[in-house]
This record gives sequence, C-alpha cells and structure tokens, in this order.
Amino acid sequence: MKTIIEPFRIKSVEPLRRTTPEERERLLEQAGYNLFLLRARDILLDLLTDSGTSAMSTEQWAALMRGDESYAGSDSFYRLKETVQDLTGFRHIIPAHQGRAAERILFAITCHPGAIVPNNSHFDTTRANIEYRGAKAVDLPIAADTQSRLPFKGNLDIEALERLIESEGALNIPLIMITVTNNSGGGQPVSMANIAQVREIASRHGIPLYLDACRFAENAWFIKQRESEYKDWTPKQIAQKMFSLADGCTFSAKKDAFANIGGLLCTNDDRLAEQEKDLLTLTEGFPTYGGLAGRDLDAMAVGLEEVLQPDYLEYRIASTAYLGRHIADHGVPIVEPPGGHAIYIDAGRMLPHIPRHQFPGQSLAVELYRHASIRSVEIGSVMFGENARHELLRLAIPRRVYTQSHIDYLVEAILEVNERRDGLRGFEIVSEPKYLRHFKATFRPV
Ligand code: F0G
Repeated sequence: MKTIIEPFRIKSVEPLRRTTPEERERLLEQAGYNLFLLRARDILLDLLTDSGTSAMSTEQWAALMRGDESYAGSDSFYRLKETVQDLTGFRHIIPAHQGRAAERILFAITCHPGAIVPNNSHFDTTRANIEYRGAKAVDLPIAADTQSRLPFKGNLDIEALERLIESEGALNIPLIMITVTNNSGGGQPVSMANIAQVREIASRHGIPLYLDACRFAENAWFIKQRESEYKDWTPKQIAQKMFSLADGCTFSAKKDAFANIGGLLCTNDDRLAEQEKDLLTLTEGFPTYGGLAGRDLDAMAVGLEEVLQPDYLEYRIASTAYLGRHIADHGVPIVEPPGGHAIYIDAGRMLPHIPRHQFPGQSLAVELYRHASIRSVEIGSVMFGENARHELLRLAIPRRVYTQSHIDYLVEAILEVNERRDGLRGFEIVSEPKYLRHFKATFRPV
C-alpha cells in the first residue's frame, strides 16, 4: 500500500468551536490584530506552534501515574536521565521547565557582554536570551533563496563561521550552536556532514559545540532519507550520532518529546554543570526536577522513545509535505522543500504590493484567521525586526493532533486567500515591548 496513514487511532476528542466571520472581525480588532492575543477557544485550527501542543499517547498518560513526586532524587528523574543518556551520551542531564529556561541558564553562565554566539539560525527566545546578557547572536545560514530545493537547507555556512572566528577571535565565542531542524530558516534539516564539519572547526579552536535539539528526531529522519550513508540506520542511531558530535545541548521537550511542558540542558563539562545546577536551584528547582513535576519527567522519557519510531516519523514528515505540495503546486510560494514541523509561506513573494515595513506575513496571518479561523504565526520583520531575512508565515503542525481532513480544509482556505491576495493590506505597529515584540505588539491596518 502506498497510502501513508496516521499510525494511531483517537481515544479522547476535544470539540472545535466555530465562529462567524463577524465575530472574528471583532475579535481581531480587540486583539490589536495580534493572533497571540486571541483566545484559543475562538480558533478552529491552531497552527500557531508545534510546541507543547502534541497529543500524548496512552503510554505517556499511563506514565503520568507513575510520576514520583519526591522533591529530591525521584525515580522519575532517574528514568528520564537513563533515557536521555542512552540517546545523547551526555554526562550531565539537567531538567528545566522548557527550552528557554535551559537557554537562560546556559547563556547566563557562558555569555559576557560583547561575546558572540553563532548559530545556523537562532530562534526568538535563543536570540533574546543571548542579547539579554549583552552578547550578540549571529545567524550563519547557508545562502539560499526560499525557492531552491536543497536537501539540507538548514546547514550552517562553514566558511562564514571560519571568517567569524578569524575576525572576532575564538576567545570571544563561548559556544557555537546548531539548531536542528532550523526553525527560523524554514524547518529545514541540517546534514550529519555539516554537523561534523562544525565539530571539526569547533575542536580546532577549542570552542564547545551545542545542539539546539528541539526537533532532533525530525532532523534524524531527513538524514535517513537524504544522506545516503545513513539510509540503513535507525532514527535512534542517527540521533545518537548527531549528539555524539556535540559537547552539550538545549532541548525543548514541547517539540520532539510530545510533552506539553519540559526541557533539558545537557553537557559533558563537569565544572559548567555544577554552575548550571546552582543557578537552576536558585530559579527553577532542585536538579532532579528542574521546575517540573515528576510526572512531567516521565512523560518526556516515554515521548523521547516514541518520537523515534519510524512509522511515526514517516507519517509526520509526509503529512507536512502533503500540505506543502498541495498549496505550492497551486501557486502559493512556500519555503522549498517542505520542512519537518511546519510549512512556511513566503508572504513577501505572495504579497509583493505590501512592503516589509508593513509586514506582509502579519497581513496574511490576519487574513487566514478572518477567512477560515486558522491561527498561524508571522516569522519575519515583526518577529525579528532588522534581522529578518524573509517575510514568512509559519503554519506549524502540532504532533498527532490534526487529521488529513483538517489539512485539506487548511489547503482550501489558503488557496481561497491566495485568489484574492491583491486585496490584502499592510499593517503598522501601534505599541510594542522591548524584547520579543511579536508576543505583545498591537497593530492597525494601513
Ligand atoms: N529553540 C527552538 C529552535 C525553538 O523552536 C524553540 C521554541 C525554543 C528553542 C524554545 O523552547 O518554547 O520550550 O522555551 N519554539 C516554539 C515555536 C515556541 O513555536 O517554534 P521553549
């Protein structure tokens, strides 16, 4: 059989609520045209993020009951530690309540004002946590326009990295990061060869290499499909090899661990780990729970095993590609080829009449909600200001949540909006906070 099916059946359902176009118009106005400020109950398909929105499995729900809620030294922690060490090989496994908590602790200790952290592409919280320390977050993606169909478009530009180390000096670079898959860069994978090259450069200059490993399993599946040496490896073996090339990682369990909350900070550096655990105790919690309940640690441990199952990864990546192909083949410009967790519409290209400073991605996000009660997120000048490379709209697919007919509805809505794209208007910002402005900014149509 050629049809790839959802490798699960549904045992508990959550009703979706319909709204009328008039209601949505009013809700948009009330929210200052910022979709983060809508209530989730007013949304039919919520593609704002794939983070913390996964459906947990029966095994994960069962694991919650096993959660050991001891303050110190719980069995839940040791079950998680064993799973993560088997997968990553890292010596120190530090739980945190989510990815950005791990980032904050890592950068608070390693970054001084003026330091520079290169990455293939920093995500918003990563960049903000580095900048908050007075350090500089530098993106070094390989140069590629949104339309080129490279197999590993998430790769880090090796020559640019060498030039950066040369000009800034290795001592000013506390660590190099690689984000797998490259979220801000279109959900595109990074090849094992690229990780190995960065490893070699990092070792040569004595700089630690960290993975921002949120979507490590999706990246491993792309390596299996696209890097011929690994075609007979299991996703787990590939993931193990990816981690073996790094000195540590930050991880948001809200993505590739199917958890609704949770994160990890891992390292092989004993001295750093002690400092990290001290800071963790100060702000997150004791090092065997890190701001989480024991049951959350168990849900993560089970999720980390499930996410590497080939049936799941095959369905996951095929489902995202199905959405991408069905809109791109009808003329909607997307970041090609389709990524792992999301499809990114190139709103700058779709709406050439809306200039960057009037936020074409935001305009498209608002219109998709107005038209079909779909929530997506702008990844462009609203989110990244001057650092934005493209004006994108991200349609992130929560894991194991929506069925193929939901995706078909989405395709239909996007194609209808595309028909009347010439009528869409730009936006201007009415108010914005200093950091991470996309979460709270308000807008008005121009
Ligand atoms: N790194 C990357 C690449 C991410 O995509 C995210 C979160 C984080 C770090 C932070 O993790 O949310 O657990 O604190 N990305 C979500 C998104 C929010 O929608 O892409 P967190």
